[in-house]
Amino acid sequence: MLLTQVPSYYQTRREKLMQSHPGAVFLIPSAPELIRNSDVHHPFRQDSHFYYLSGFDEPGSFLVLSTAQSSPSRISKMTLFVQPRDPEREMWEGERYGIDGALRVFGADEAFNESALETKLLEILKGAEKIFYRLGHSEAMDRRVLAILETSRRSQGRSGRGIMPLEDPQLPIGEMRLFKDNQELQLIRKACHITAIGHRTAMQEIRPGMNEGEAEALIDYQFRKNGCQRLGYGSIVAGGKNAACLHYRSNNETLRNGELLLIDAGGEYGFYTSDITRTFPIGKGFSEAQRKAYELVLSVQKAGIAMTRPGAKLPEIHKITCEQLTDGLLSLGLLKGNRQELLKGAAYRRFYPHNTSHWLGLDVHDAGLYTQAGEPRKLEPGMTFTIEPGFYVQPSDQDTPEAYRNIGIRIEDDILVTASGCEVLTQEAPKEVTEIEALRAKAF
Ligand code: GLY
Ligand code: MN
Ligand code: MN
Repeated sequence: MLLTQVPSYYQTRREKLMQSHPGAVFLIPSAPELIRNSDVHHPFRQDSHFYYLSGFDEPGSFLVLSTAQSSPSRISKMTLFVQPRDPEREMWEGERYGIDGALRVFGADEAFNESALETKLLEILKGAEKIFYRLGHSEAMDRRVLAILETSRRSQGRSGRGIMPLEDPQLPIGEMRLFKDNQELQLIRKACHITAIGHRTAMQEIRPGMNEGEAEALIDYQFRKNGCQRLGYGSIVAGGKNAACLHYRSNNETLRNGELLLIDAGGEYGFYTSDITRTFPIGKGFSEAQRKAYELVLSVQKAGIAMTRPGAKLPEIHKITCEQLTDGLLSLGLLKGNRQELLKGAAYRRFYPHNTSHWLGLDVHDAGLYTQAGEPRKLEPGMTFTIEPGFYVQPSDQDTPEAYRNIGIRIEDDILVTASGCEVLTQEAPKEVTEIEALRAKAF
């Protein structure tokens, strides 16, 4: 169903962006439509910057932000290029907002048919002092935009103005997106709530003998049923040794009693995604070795969460998780030797080869720099990110005792930095051994 009016916060974001970049022009194409084969497309998902600044989610569109000249109270001018109304096309593809909707519903200052980009953009670029456009997303769009910029340069005659350097919009928009506003937090909370329902349901319904794909469908069903439009990323549903493959995607093997199941899945709600991983026994309970390894990862994850507050840095959280994991692996006898030497040589990487955190928001690996002036940036209230340590025994690893083989464990929560510390947004997804085993009992 089409909207009648988008909320005013998109306008607030545009004003904020243009306030810090007066005279700039931001050129933001919609996500490209990707063809799967012949006339069948991959599902369309709007470009996150585009959506963040406009709320407009139709393909074949182009967002231009420039400096408003006419209104003293407004700095940002939004020009939306859209696919025009077309009853024949809309019969096949669904209703469009068209030019009228771009103006009325999305508050564009001006809106044109997308095919007018070449001519209208030349007018907008006349006063530009700086141009933001991200090269490399789509070759076809790059060619089109560069041709317009070249025409613009020529039209400046002998003014001496060359073709203007292009700046990457990822930096200023990514910086804004790093700090979630209240509307974004509402949507992230909802995505986390629904995703937790999915994981909880999986814990109480999955049984040995099911296929990983069926388990995937079960959790996906909960996401959709509870209001998610799609997933934030492809789910990883990995039984036993499959969990040691960090980007396992085939999700098509039978779940075996006695092994663990790792599910990394996140529902997207209102374009914001959650990112939760839970690991639980496919049978009723953990084996002793599985429980020891699980509790080690859980304690390491909690140590990372306990460190999270304004001023802390992600590499510090990663360092603590690596140190505590090393301590735990030493006491389980899975690593042997001198602690300092092991840490220096990053021996934990045999069992934990990935990083602990990433930003989270409109994208699962969200926009925003991890460093500032060459230094890891300090956490500040409003940032959201994951803490996701793990323990994986590779199938080729013959040195690890038998009881720890075929194991891959990750525990991943989504965290909001608050003024006084942090809030775990995904705490509704059970992760204590007793909670998990109680839920598993319900499956039998
Ligand atoms: N689900 C992707 C990740 O955890 O980074
Ligand atoms: Mn993650
Ligand atoms: Mn994940």
